[in-house]
Amino acid sequence: MSPRSLVLGLGLALLAGCGEQRPSFEPEKVNAAPLGKGLPRGFLLGASTASHQVEGGNENDWARWERASFPDGTPHIHDRSVSGPATDSWNRFDEDVKLMKRLGSNAYRFSVEWSRLEPTPGAWDSEAAARYRQWAQALRAQGIEPLVTLYHFTLPTWVAESGGWENPATLDAFERFAGRVADLLGGEVDWWCTINEPNVLAVFGYMDGVWPPGKKDTKAMATVLAHLIEAHARAARQLRTHDLVDADGDGKATLVGLAHHVRVFQPASGSTTDIAVAGLTDEFFNESVPNALRTGRISLSVPGSVSLRREVPGLKGSLDYFGLNYYSRDHVRQDASPSFSHKYVPAGYDTNDLGWELYPEGLYLLLKRYAAFGLPLVVTENGMDDRSGERRPYYLRSHLYAVEQAVAAGADVRGYFHWSLIDNFEWAEGYAPRFGLFRVDRSSPELVRQDTPAVETFREAARNLGLTPTP
Ligand code: NOJ
Repeated sequence: MSPRSLVLGLGLALLAGCGEQRPSFEPEKVNAAPLGKGLPRGFLLGASTASHQVEGGNENDWARWERASFPDGTPHIHDRSVSGPATDSWNRFDEDVKLMKRLGSNAYRFSVEWSRLEPTPGAWDSEAAARYRQWAQALRAQGIEPLVTLYHFTLPTWVAESGGWENPATLDAFERFAGRVADLLGGEVDWWCTINEPNVLAVFGYMDGVWPPGKKDTKAMATVLAHLIEAHARAARQLRTHDLVDADGDGKATLVGLAHHVRVFQPASGSTTDIAVAGLTDEFFNESVPNALRTGRISLSVPGSVSLRREVPGLKGSLDYFGLNYYSRDHVRQDASPSFSHKYVPAGYDTNDLGWELYPEGLYLLLKRYAAFGLPLVVTENGMDDRSGERRPYYLRSHLYAVEQAVAAGADVRGYFHWSLIDNFEWAEGYAPRFGLFRVDRSSPELVRQDTPAVETFREAARNLGLTPTP
């Protein structure tokens, strides 16, 4: 790292709040707080899913990836599973709506599967379209606000084969798709999420090579991240011109957002290099996307390989709310890898079953940070892999507490969506992790959904918010 980037990193680390006093949530306080009472009126409380992870039977770039291996023979999916039937939510949506009602939720975030709706270029599957429309209608009829994601990690194979997100033509195809989905669902849907976690997709798919298309190319990573940001701006324009129906009667026909994955990057020591690298990591991973959205100008830099700057028409002002997906904190030590950093969780810290640190204070810190954006915030995802089911109640309680503390500190937070409604296909980790409020028994042919203890915690929050869970 050059001395210049070091100084820059140090400055950014301080700006990013690494120097600010860290809050600490004592369990006694968290447990004693009346869960949900501090959430504002009209707050959206629900769960999130994504098409490929729950629908089952999808044929797209991920389905292909799941069946293949890395050149050394290691399977792409750690537990060697393929998504296959997933949770069969394509055929069991009514069952899933009952689960939402049992939670007392008033909102549900799900994604539409591009490969189902447009299986070949320009084609439109009217049966699939009708089903998504029925879902949106069913949700609304049950008093559940749909929040629809247009793109959640999976591409139709025809898009992937023609270069995926590296190819600028994909932006044209996605823009058309966004307009068609707005025509299809706009009568029922007001809340939209254009793209899920552009930063994660770019890094996993194009830098770490652990997701399709399995590239390790920092320049391609930056190209893709820039294209995803641009795709968001173009989709936002389509949503706003094609969805003119105010489905919930609140005076707003279209609320456009994007779900951005944010993490806390904690310098592993007080050394200048660790602080600088944590700051640079924070700047690239957490800030590149919101900075572009704020200014209308993409500016991506990775010392030594990437310096990409460009103005994107329509990007500035393209958001009505900012979505945050928050899970964890990384401790960052400087090293010689392409990202200059080693990220880890020190021994003795509390983690989920995938080894991710449980750090509810981070959600509070990041909500406060992004409140400065001046837009309403929505926690579009938050959850943990909890295979015993025993620890999710406290996870949920402490993270909702973080939301309530941020609201009390002045952050305009409009919603919280737990990841996930039900256990589902966790990408490269397969089916081993369990993120669901409801457990899915994969050995039963009906993929039976069962309550986990966190259902009761969720119901408590819902009741305190004035909602009415079904018995
Ligand atoms: C974020 C992603 O959007 C979602 O697809 C994934 O399953 C969860 N994180 C948990 O890793």
